[in-house]
Amino acid sequence: MVGVVGPPGIGKSRLVRELAAMARRRGVEVFTAFCESYTSQVPFHVVARLLRAAFGVESLDGQTARDQVRDRVSDADPEDLLLLDDLLSIADPNVPLPAIDPDARRRRLTALVNAASLAREAPAVYVVEDAHWIDEVSESMLADFLTVIPQTPSLMLLTYRPEYRGPLTQLTGAQTVALGPLSDSESAALITELLGPDPSTTQIAALVAERAAGNPFFAEEIVHELAERGVLQGQTGAYVSTADVSEAKVPATLQATIGARIDRLNPGAKRTLSAAAVIGSRFSRELLETLGIDPVLKDLVAAQLIDQVRFARQPDYVFHHPLIRAVAYESQLRSDRAELHLRLAAAIESGDPAAVEENAALIAEHLEAAGELHAAYGWHMRAGTWSAPRDIVAARLHWERAGQIADTSPFDGPDHTAMRIAPRTLLCGNSWRIHANISADRFNELRQLCGVTGDKVSLAIGTAGLVNEHLMRGRVREASLLAAECMALIESTGDPALVIGLSFLAILVKCETGEMTEVLRWSQRVIDLAEGDPIRGNIIIGSPLAVALSSRGLARWTQGAAGWRDDFDRALEIGRRTDPMSHAFAVNLIYSPAIPCGLLLPDDTALREIDEALHIAERSGDDMTLGSARMAMGLALIHRQSHTDREHGLKVLAELREMCLYERFNLAELAVLDVYATGKSARRGDHDDAVARIRRGVDDLFRSGQFAWCVLTTGVLVETLLSRNADGDLSEAETAIKRMAAIPFDNEYVARDILLLRLYAVLARARGDDGAYRDLVTRYRSMAASFGFEGHMKWAEAMP
Ligand SMILES: Nc1ncnc2c1ncn2[C@@H]1O[C@H](COP(=O)(O)OP(=O)(O)O)[C@@H](O)[C@H]1O
Ligand SMILES: [Mg+2]
Repeated sequence: MVGVVGPPGIGKSRLVRELAAMARRRGVEVFTAFCESYTSQVPFHVVARLLRAAFGVESLDGQTARDQVRDRVSDADPEDLLLLDDLLSIADPNVPLPAIDPDARRRRLTALVNAASLAREAPAVYVVEDAHWIDEVSESMLADFLTVIPQTPSLMLLTYRPEYRGPLTQLTGAQTVALGPLSDSESAALITELLGPDPSTTQIAALVAERAAGNPFFAEEIVHELAERGVLQGQTGAYVSTADVSEAKVPATLQATIGARIDRLNPGAKRTLSAAAVIGSRFSRELLETLGIDPVLKDLVAAQLIDQVRFARQPDYVFHHPLIRAVAYESQLRSDRAELHLRLAAAIESGDPAAVEENAALIAEHLEAAGELHAAYGWHMRAGTWSAPRDIVAARLHWERAGQIADTSPFDGPDHTAMRIAPRTLLCGNSWRIHANISADRFNELRQLCGVTGDKVSLAIGTAGLVNEHLMRGRVREASLLAAECMALIESTGDPALVIGLSFLAILVKCETGEMTEVLRWSQRVIDLAEGDPIRGNIIIGSPLAVALSSRGLARWTQGAAGWRDDFDRALEIGRRTDPMSHAFAVNLIYSPAIPCGLLLPDDTALREIDEALHIAERSGDDMTLGSARMAMGLALIHRQSHTDREHGLKVLAELREMCLYERFNLAELAVLDVYATGKSARRGDHDDAVARIRRGVDDLFRSGQFAWCVLTTGVLVETLLSRNADGDLSEAETAIKRMAAIPFDNEYVARDILLLRLYAVLARARGDDGAYRDLVTRYRSMAASFGFEGHMKWAEAMP
């Protein structure tokens, strides 16, 4: 991987072109994509183009293109191929996009594309030109695709200007070639070639060399300009001059030189160039005509302002250099330009009716440039909707743009506040998926705007998003405080679908804090409102009912109430047949506490259930879904008998830990994972380190008020201390038990009571108090049996 860096006109593209020509002469395929200034806000633009080139589908119709892709990656999963079709814009309009969350989509596309790169044996050259204009989504996808390039016989070339500092400049294994100005002798050689040998041009050559300062493009443009002005006569490589050099003023900058040349064009050519600049770096006669232009292209080609690229019946044209387009764009009247943008937006919309939603981003760009802000707002919102199931970052960018437009535009009428609220609600409501921090400004703005219009629904959605953001960032106390307010807000909307759909976020927080009375009450409310309909209120999760049944079951067994087994059975059955997220959430709410708590055994049935949820999450779920399934899987496995299973479990927990650190799963769970991973891997010798880490984890959980986990992790701490049994460990264990015993739960908490019995028993034994030990074990056994704690029954059995 090589980055070619330098200012405009210095020769990046030329170098890459020369290299590409060399490669082609040796039979090496070259695939190129250009980034452009006007598409830097259009998600997927560049990555789709590069892949279209690489898969050879650029000029194929849909069916042929799809066949070709299937030819290239013959053993791929059919669903993966549908995702690839969609990315390449060759999807069959009659085949619906599979229901796969953006995170999973990204995982699968990356795996597919990387497998295809690795499988390719023939060397290839990939070129991404002008990466300083790359759109954010392409940039991050490309970074993922490039991780395997060093293992392939391929060359990846990126060109960009020095101001670009994005992730593509920091690829591991990449080299950078910085292009500086030509040396004096190189400049002289270049200019002599342009001017020719005639002695009448010697002084002019010196002037050009001085002004161009080693920039070859600048030198070329000055010569063109002088020739067009008549200071030079003849043609390239054979000029003569009769002018006095002192009269031969040359513009001070490259841009000014180009500007002077454009100024001198005849009106038809100038208008053509202006319209073309609005379209982009590549354009066709046909599209110019659609914009109401009578194209004059021959003069422009002759002046080397544009080049013709496809010599078919319908030729295409490109600007000779991006700077020419930039100057042509800037130098026209704003009102003319706005009119062209407007016409272009209409042309894109009507040009390909099947791709209107896909083109919404581009249409929004042009409308914004046309000053049609109201319309642009609408298209950004549409583009957000199109992007949301594909890439949540892309959706975020559109919602942010829409919000900015709404904020800064002088729209009148009652709509205006609503327009400002709508994108903010989406941003706040989706905060947990887009890893964007909303707690600071954005939420407060939303709250304030909703106050103005009395919009309770948007405020409720935004608040639920904030609750979840707090949890994602490990701010459990804030999350818990806000949860009650959030529930009250949701109720105040009077909309049952909203109550069903949003409550789970607040419920999850209360599961962490162990406020099981709240969990029970709110879960019950959702279950009542759902009236047995698994998908009622499926705003965020496919089946709120499945999740509410799991959390009700959890609240029930931790408080020693009956009915939890039925809840769990129904939750799993519904989760399995609705969507990956409901299934994974149910599995997490059921098994992650129940197995470590000694309620359920990590038997093959449990493992099968979790494994199914995990498998589906990997294929189709977003990160929260995947993380939930991993949590259940990791915790279940480390409680198994088999050493291999336990090792596997630790690996899964380590993966989940990574996800927490990258904000892809609740940071709040980090301490839990640390305690369990350390507790299970504590071997002879590294006990000291283990105790210190577990102690820290438990302290963290107490500090953040995650009392449900405090109970369990105290168990791990106590057992690790007792098995080390160094000086002071027994009394530390006792203190830890007492702290746990003193947690002020809002109701009976049987899950704690039974663990207390066990811990007091092991403590008595460690102290050599056999009488107390026997008494405690007997009580422990009978309590386990009476509440049906299968795990505890087994553990009690194993106590001598
Ligand atoms: N080493 C060189 N010798 C001769 N001409 C060059 C050289 N490098 C660049 N040019 C010419 O300068 C112009 C601008 O170069 P280009 O590669 O498009 O610049 P960049 O991509 O860095 O903006 C082109 O017409 C190109 O042919
Ligand atoms: Mg270039």
